[in-house]
Amino acid sequence: MPHSIKKAVIPVAGWGTRGLPFTKEVPKEMIPILDIPAIHFVVEEAIHSGIEQIIFVTARGKSALEDYFDDSPYLIEILRKKGKHEQADFLQKIGKMCEIISVRQKEPKGLGHAILAAKNVVGNEPFGVCLADEIFPSWDPRNKSLPPLKQLTEISKSTGLSSIGVMEIDPKDSSSYGMIRMETPKFRGIYEKVLGTVEKPTPEKSPSNYAVVGRYVFQPEIMAALSEVKPGFGGEIQLTDAMDSLCSNKGLLAVDLKNERYDVGNLFQFLKAQIDFALKKPELSDKLKSYLSDRK
Ligand code: UTP
Repeated sequence: MPHSIKKAVIPVAGWGTRGLPFTKEVPKEMIPILDIPAIHFVVEEAIHSGIEQIIFVTARGKSALEDYFDDSPYLIEILRKKGKHEQADFLQKIGKMCEIISVRQKEPKGLGHAILAAKNVVGNEPFGVCLADEIFPSWDPRNKSLPPLKQLTEISKSTGLSSIGVMEIDPKDSSSYGMIRMETPKFRGIYEKVLGTVEKPTPEKSPSNYAVVGRYVFQPEIMAALSEVKPGFGGEIQLTDAMDSLCSNKGLLAVDLKNERYDVGNLFQFLKAQIDFALKKPELSDKLKSYLSDRK
């Protein structure tokens, strides 16, 4: 009987060089979309996917992420005294969102290396991985649109295999992504078997139009595969190398995620997220529209 998936690893130990100078002192995963940090959306998605324990793979200078999910009794008391109960309730909810465990990656030697740092806490069970600089805000259980991680946990539970989220991209952007190779150019159903991955290929060399995005569910054997991986591009332990080894062993499935996605480590997508979120807020939407039309 396949295990249910209760743990998710969120690696947050990278340098975040694309976000400099902001990321010099503030973790890039704390970057706010309006007034909510990116990590909040990611943890919320994990909880709605059935995750009970979040494992942050963290590093020096990243404590703001752990602090964010801590209780804040003094601040809550001050807010209550001022009658700001809505804000106080929200902060109270954040402090109780889920159990957070932190492990250290002492040197940022790549995404694969970061996941391997969580090996002892994960133990011998399947687990999710979420990259916290990618947010998928549009899922809504009320209209049966499932969070991306939940789509993966369901496929992995029913098949007993590892699964990764992919999305169809504009072919000219392939050199920014890990691209997958499949038996067919298009998905025939919700998932397809992955035959291999190619890291950042030119459009001519890309094996498909499907890019790996930051949501994964791995069976425990990924840890053994990761410990075999030799440093690759940039001297880093690449997760994609371990995924390729799953493809040639038990198998790896790609799930075609249809959700809206923002890579908030990319300046333009970060800006798009701000605008899209503001347009959905009644108190900001009209003001923003009229401001933008006046600017033309
Ligand atoms: P990225 O490659 O986007 O993160 O990894 P980065 O290295 O911080 O970013 P840039 O390219 O320099 O701007 C995706 C996630 O994996 C984590 C990062 O913190 C990020 O959330 N990561 C990456 C680690 O935890 N450890 C690493 O060694 C590398």
